[in-house]
Amino acid sequence: MNILAIESSCDETAAAVVKDGHGVLSNVVASQIDIHAKYGGVVPEVAARAHVQSIIPVVEESLSEAKTKWENIDVIAVTQGPGLIGSLIIGTETARALAILKKKPIIAVNHLEGHIYANWISKNIPQFPLIALLVSGGHTMLIEVENHYKFKIIGQTRDDAAGEAFDKVAQLLSLPYPGGPNISKSAEKGNPNKYKFPIIDLTSKPKRNTEGFLEYSFPSLDFSFSGLKTAVLNVVKQSKSFSEQDKADIAASFQKTIVETLIQNSQRAIAQHKPKSFILSGGVAANPLLRQELAKLREKLGTSFYMPDLKYCTDNAAMIGAAAYHKQKEKACLSDEKGFTKPQDLVPNPNLSLS
Ligand code: KG4
Ligand code: ZN
Repeated sequence: MNILAIESSCDETAAAVVKDGHGVLSNVVASQIDIHAKYGGVVPEVAARAHVQSIIPVVEESLSEAKTKWENIDVIAVTQGPGLIGSLIIGTETARALAILKKKPIIAVNHLEGHIYANWISKNIPQFPLIALLVSGGHTMLIEVENHYKFKIIGQTRDDAAGEAFDKVAQLLSLPYPGGPNISKSAEKGNPNKYKFPIIDLTSKPKRNTEGFLEYSFPSLDFSFSGLKTAVLNVVKQSKSFSEQDKADIAASFQKTIVETLIQNSQRAIAQHKPKSFILSGGVAANPLLRQELAKLREKLGTSFYMPDLKYCTDNAAMIGAAAYHKQKEKACLSDEKGFTKPQDLVPNPNLSLS
């Protein structure tokens, strides 16, 4: 099955042709980094306008890069949410128009499902049941996946997402947008032990005992990064001026702390749920220190670990094609009897959750 996949949930306009859920025949990403860099972050209205300009050329390029024609495309897959509403509308309406014009069925995909299924773009695929650590600009979650499309969120951030924390700390250090890659680049020259930032270890949500008192018991798999961000802010405020070396030391210390927090909860999730495999996904999965520390954890625990190639960590359409393939096979969408999305159900949803 050849799927033409479209992704436009944030600031990347992307299209890909994916064969049978794992063969990436093309993967085109038009990044808007240069457009948003001068504002220090994504401006939703500007992002939507940029998608309008690039989406058709990107789709055409994905077909030509795949050396394929419309008659060889079986399905159109598209991100339905979560994301920026203006950006999602451009992707879903383009997919709908192309589906009518070219007479193709549609598969609507959740962006988070896409990040998870980036791990299936490989010959070596994860085994179920598994645990996924999904770390992106908008989400930080530990998800238990019992089988294809059987998701259960077992931990998530109570405030900022990991990528968001990278981006905000980058702003505090006057590093350019996007923050994540620039923090890790700056951190290469820094001393990760220079500053002791807090590793936030939350207890599970309190329960009321029989006497009516709140009881805080076992450690939680939830995350919190706002205290870490404030700790960095305090260091920045206390310093009168900054050398490049100071910035690098703060970046390295921050990166070490956030990675340790992610590893701490991942290790705890593995101990509690004993999955067959553990997978990493989302834009922050491109972080070299996180990848390195997870590789160490693999050595220590002997669980099978998987992480996508770097180009499938940050937003791309190949992951949407991979997710769509399995979604149709499992008949897991708001579907017709063949496992496709009914056109009337293709409604962009900025708050779409992982069901
Ligand atoms: O998945 P993604 O491309 O978009 C969302 O779905 O949010 O993730 C983007 C996030 C941004 O916050 C970006 O700073 C972060 O991923 N990111 C990184 C790295 N590359 C991207 N964070 C840390 N280290 C990186 N190398
Ligand atoms: Zn994403």
